[in-house]
Amino acid sequence: MTGKGRILSGMRPTGRLHLGHYSVIENWARLSEDYDAYFFTADWHAITTQFDQTDKLRENKRQVVIDYISAGLDPEKCHIFHQSDIKEHAELHLLMSMITPLPWLERVPTYKGQVRQFKDQGKDIATYGFLGYPLLMSADILMYRPVGVPVGEDQLPHCEFTRELARRFNNMYNVEIFPEPEAILAKIKVLPGTDNRKMSKSYNNYINLSFTAEEVKDKVWQMITDPARIRKTDPGHPDICAVYAYHGFYNQEEQPEICAACQAGSIGCGQCKKMLTQKINDFLDPIREKRAQLETMPDLLDDIIEDGNNAARQQAQITMEMVREAIGI
Ligand code: TRP
Ligand code: SF4
Repeated sequence: MTGKGRILSGMRPTGRLHLGHYSVIENWARLSEDYDAYFFTADWHAITTQFDQTDKLRENKRQVVIDYISAGLDPEKCHIFHQSDIKEHAELHLLMSMITPLPWLERVPTYKGQVRQFKDQGKDIATYGFLGYPLLMSADILMYRPVGVPVGEDQLPHCEFTRELARRFNNMYNVEIFPEPEAILAKIKVLPGTDNRKMSKSYNNYINLSFTAEEVKDKVWQMITDPARIRKTDPGHPDICAVYAYHGFYNQEEQPEICAACQAGSIGCGQCKKMLTQKINDFLDPIREKRAQLETMPDLLDDIIEDGNNAARQQAQITMEMVREAIGI
């Protein structure tokens, strides 16, 4: 793995991963072939908003790692670790906080948006920790001095923040410790939620990678179809129907036929959903199998995380020595 550039990414373990995450992980797995790759659970980041719901955090972290691996990350080809196991992230966050101008944090759009959302919900929890979200993320990233960070578009402001911070640190202490990491944007077709909005935990419109066949069936059954179709013979408009969009992901071969049959009023929504349920379950079966295997081997999972932690810690220690030296502490 030496000689390859490093990349790093992570997700907040706020619950199980869903179908929308699958293509993200698939992309990570692909990148693992070409880079020295680090993937982690951002458990400290999860607490920046869910500080009052930490009872499931440990279990969620574990499940996210199981999701990562069963969806295709190969622990032989990348390092999987937990953010909070590498305490150096906290030290770098602290030291970086000394040189981060407050307005840089206050103008990050995700922060402004979240504060607005909290206000709308009648909550007033703009915490110090949450304000520091992008800074902690910068520490996560810069710790590994990566060439790139595979993220979704929503994370671009955080990546830009990270690049500015890297520049500021290097200039301030007259060093060249931190390269400016590039965001690696994947050309991923985004799967909508079962209600055609963005797939998200808060909308309850997701299908988890860990759903049983029965849970998938229930979720597909609840999907809203073209409201113009009351009888089976009513001509439908597949382009406004989420079930149809899903066929494009999980049943590409039959999608054109379904389109024609829906428009002609020759297929019922029930049958269309039944077909989709089958396809999603076929897709999930190998993932379920892997998950079941991992669940029965807790020691293996512990070993994978320990190996990942060790690899991450080794890089983190190298970076922190340089950082302490540069600051003179
Ligand atoms: N903010 C990211 C998200 O919500 C998670 C994250 C935390 C992350 N630290 C990171 C992603 C470092 C990439 C690199 O998806
Ligand atoms: Fe949607 Fe299928 Fe019903 Fe057409 S037949 S409206 S595509 S569920």
